[in-house]
Amino acid sequence: MRFQITVLPGDGIGPEVCREAVRMLRALNAYYDCEFQFVERPIGGEAIRKTGTPLPPATLDACLNGDAVLLGAVGAPEFDHLSGMQRPEAGLLQLRTALGGFANLRPAASFSAIADCSPLRRSQVEGADVLIVRELLGGLYFSEPRGFGEDRHHAFNTMRYSVEEIERVAHVAFQQAHSRRKKLTSVDKANVLETSQLWRQTVNEVGRLYPEVKLEHMYVDACAMHLISNPTRFDVILTENLFGDILSDEAAAITGSLGMLASATIGGTVNLYEPVHGSAPDIAGKGQANPLGAIASAAMLLRHSANMAREADELESAIEEVLEAGYRTADLVGPDFVGANRNIIATSAMGELVEQAFVAMLDRRFSYHAV
Ligand code: IPM
Ligand code: MN
Repeated sequence: MRFQITVLPGDGIGPEVCREAVRMLRALNAYYDCEFQFVERPIGGEAIRKTGTPLPPATLDACLNGDAVLLGAVGAPEFDHLSGMQRPEAGLLQLRTALGGFANLRPAASFSAIADCSPLRRSQVEGADVLIVRELLGGLYFSEPRGFGEDRHHAFNTMRYSVEEIERVAHVAFQQAHSRRKKLTSVDKANVLETSQLWRQTVNEVGRLYPEVKLEHMYVDACAMHLISNPTRFDVILTENLFGDILSDEAAAITGSLGMLASATIGGTVNLYEPVHGSAPDIAGKGQANPLGAIASAAMLLRHSANMAREADELESAIEEVLEAGYRTADLVGPDFVGANRNIIATSAMGELVEQAFVAMLDRRFSYHAV
């Protein structure tokens, strides 16, 4: 069976981290009849340079015709003066809309090996394991009307949500919570916003179908505080688009680096996998980028698109093993590094080590089966 992955390396460190993620998927081809194939296309600033638009039709076609999309990052400072639909980021927003994935899963967990990289105390983050379910196709990002007024003297965006939009993402969040620790925190600003009042009411109604899941509601400002001061109190967090964008970067403090975080966008025609971090143009091409967020996104691809949950677990364990052996990319240098015997390695070296650990696990399992 062939499984076609559209790879969109994008801008900045996107290509470097994508390469390492692809390496893990390619390694699987030696073990299975199923064959991962890769088609690479431009998006974002790279696509603007090549074709004049951030999401060329050939890129979108490839994405719609494949089995999954793996994206690196978009965003380039040379286009900072452009607005709205001309920016590299517009390519990603158009792609999300076209693929139709409305539920963006962003896990953030503490790894014991790098708990000291977190700006928070080890005792605060240890054991934290949060999944943010971010609504991805509505709210301030997409609602109309939007724009600049005359003379650019004012500007406006609209936050709009329908019951259907809230229901569909709420179902995903309840299902995720049900398969985890059965606790769901729905985050809103219902003391101020009508969209949040509808959100709360709709989530309550969907919740009646999931009596085993304990549901609570929390204001977004309070959530921002609790996520930092007491992250272990959370299991699954469900929230709207912009709140989820902000809270998921904040959640990176639990893991210790934004470079660690992965995401999966599900619910549409083709799922999209991307690390949470941006294009980091300041370190692009220097081999300093952390590929683990992209690699963990490949693990999510195995779980949510390729029906290979066991291999996804193994790839995640391989990441942990390499961290436990003391290897770090430059972003993971915490206070524990002072005088410690640890190795700072480049992006590709990190990818090679994770691949070795992953392949060793597959080898052990396959030789065991052969006996
Ligand atoms: C993210 C990013 C994007 C977003 C940008 C690049 C459009 O910050 O995936 O979190 O805001 O959704
Ligand atoms: Mn973001």
